[in-house]
Amino acid sequence: MGKFIILVALTCTVFEISLASTTTEDASLPFKQRTEEQPGSVALKIVKPLLEYYQLTNNESERSDLSDRELKVFNETLFHQEIIKSLVNELRSASDSQKGTNEVLISEYRSQISFQKELISKLINNTKTNESVELVKKWGECECQLKVLSSNIIEKDSEIEKLNFQLNDQKETQKAIQLQLEDTQRKLVKTEKAQKSYQTAIDNLIGSSQEDPISSCIPFENYPGVHQITVPNADPFNVLCDSKTAGKGWIVIQQRIGENETNFNRDWVSYRQGFGSLDGDFFLGLDKIYSLTQSEPVELYVHLVGLDGEIKYAQYDNFQILDNNNNFILKSLGNFTGNVSDALKYAEGMPFSTFDRDNDAATHNCADVFIAGWWYRNCFDSNLNSIGVDLNWNIDMILNETKMLIRPKTN
Ligand SMILES: *[C@@H]1O[C@H](CO)[C@@H](O)[C@H](O)[C@H]1NC(C)=O
Ligand SMILES: *[C@@H]1O[C@H](CO)[C@@H](O)[C@H](O)[C@H]1NC(C)=O
Ligand SMILES: *[C@@H]1O[C@H](CO)[C@@H](O)[C@H](O)[C@H]1NC(C)=O
Ligand SMILES: *[C@@H]1O[C@H](CO)[C@@H](O)[C@H](O)[C@H]1NC(C)=O
Ligand SMILES: *[C@@H]1O[C@H](CO)[C@@H](O)[C@H](O)[C@H]1NC(C)=O
Ligand SMILES: *[C@@H]1O[C@H](CO)[C@@H](O)[C@H](O)[C@H]1NC(C)=O
Ligand SMILES: *[C@@H]1O[C@H](CO)[C@@H](O)[C@H](O)[C@H]1NC(C)=O
Ligand SMILES: *[C@@H]1O[C@H](CO)[C@@H](O)[C@H](O)[C@H]1NC(C)=O
Repeated sequence: MGKFIILVALTCTVFEISLASTTTEDASLPFKQRTEEQPGSVALKIVKPLLEYYQLTNNESERSDLSDRELKVFNETLFHQEIIKSLVNELRSASDSQKGTNEVLISEYRSQISFQKELISKLINNTKTNESVELVKKWGECECQLKVLSSNIIEKDSEIEKLNFQLNDQKETQKAIQLQLEDTQRKLVKTEKAQKSYQTAIDNLIGSSQEDPISSCIPFENYPGVHQITVPNADPFNVLCDSKTAGKGWIVIQQRIGENETNFNRDWVSYRQGFGSLDGDFFLGLDKIYSLTQSEPVELYVHLVGLDGEIKYAQYDNFQILDNNNNFILKSLGNFTGNVSDALKYAEGMPFSTFDRDNDAATHNCADVFIAGWWYRNCFDSNLNSIGVDLNWNIDMILNETKMLIRPKTN
């Protein structure tokens, strides 16, 4: 930027002087003084021949006597034009945001420069004719226009500087925001760590106060969230404990509360192992559900939210499924209570089916047709793993949210 400003100032000086020498009778003197103040400078190189040229053209008697020396002067002015060119280039690279305006300036400069080149060429061709005098006059006009353009450039330059200041300002604001963000993220990580260690402390505390390993969400009924439990004949695993939907101490085995981002059209192995995220949509997994219903009698609570937001429930007091060798048959549901029809009864006694394990009683593959694993017969009264209109409880209730909760029977 520094170099650029100097160039602008220099160019402007040259224009001022050249104009002065064409309009004033004896303008050569102050000009000489100025240039001699900085001998050997670029300014002198450019300006001296220009000065000599204008002295020549201002002298009436010498007007038609254009010489080789004069041509040399014009040749020198080409160097001056190179400076304008580099100035334009500087300007162009100085600010992209100014590009549009500068492009206009640059093209104006270009046409000026080519006009001047043409003039010089004509002068060379028409030395010692009166036409050259006319051309010289035109040349002076060009210089005038160039001066205006150069002052425009100075204006643009200060605009660019302002923009640069603004840019720096914005960069600093951005930096500050970035720092704030990083700080918040650090705090968040800390909070998460703290939360996890509290959770572990709670688990340990509750665990140590129990004689047997924790195998349900009942001990965590006042601490809903994700906890690890240990069920006989299975490795410890995490479950989501829910104490809000239907009273305290429930384990969530299936959940559809998200924005339909989890695919429930999974193969047998996926349904065995479970899938999804405990803080979104998920299926706990048939092996785990089997272990949970195997170790003690459990009840099942089905939470239903319709497309219109209506909430319903269905509850069964003896939920049990068999193991993988028995295709996870829905062995029993027990007695039904609820404020919706008993739409799961139809599935009782049926094995589980996925698109790659057709265990249903239909001639076709229900899991394939309804793009979800479920305890299909021919095919279903309710399907909590499907999508769209097939995600329903009876045909009366198309669902937007579902949860399947289990809990050890209390009596
Ligand atoms: C201008 O012309 C006069 C008269 O011909 C001459 O004496 C003078 O030296 C000329 N000036 C220049 C700068 O050539
Ligand atoms: C113009 O100047 C350049 C170098 O400055 C030189 O090579 C060239 O011969 C000159 N042309 C004329 C016509 O004097
Ligand atoms: C100058 O003369 C040359 C050779 O005679 C010619 O090619 C060129 O077009 C002329 N330039 C102008 C501007 O008349
Ligand atoms: C300039 O030259 C043209 C012809 O080329 C001529 O008609 C005209 O009168 C001349 N002008 C002067 C001021 O000598
Ligand atoms: C529940 O409704 C919301 C809003 O209409 C929708 O974005 C979401 O996908 C629906 N969830 C399901 C499981 O259909
Ligand atoms: C059905 O039961 C749910 C859960 O207790 C309750 O929120 C809802 O208001 C009940 N709806 C009707 C129509 O009884
Ligand atoms: C279901 O209800 C019937 C009668 O209402 C009762 O005899 C039976 O024991 C209940 N079953 C269970 C598992 O509680
Ligand atoms: C849910 O997602 C499945 C793809 O995973 C898509 O085919 C289906 O249309 C979506 N349903 C809704 C209600 O957005």
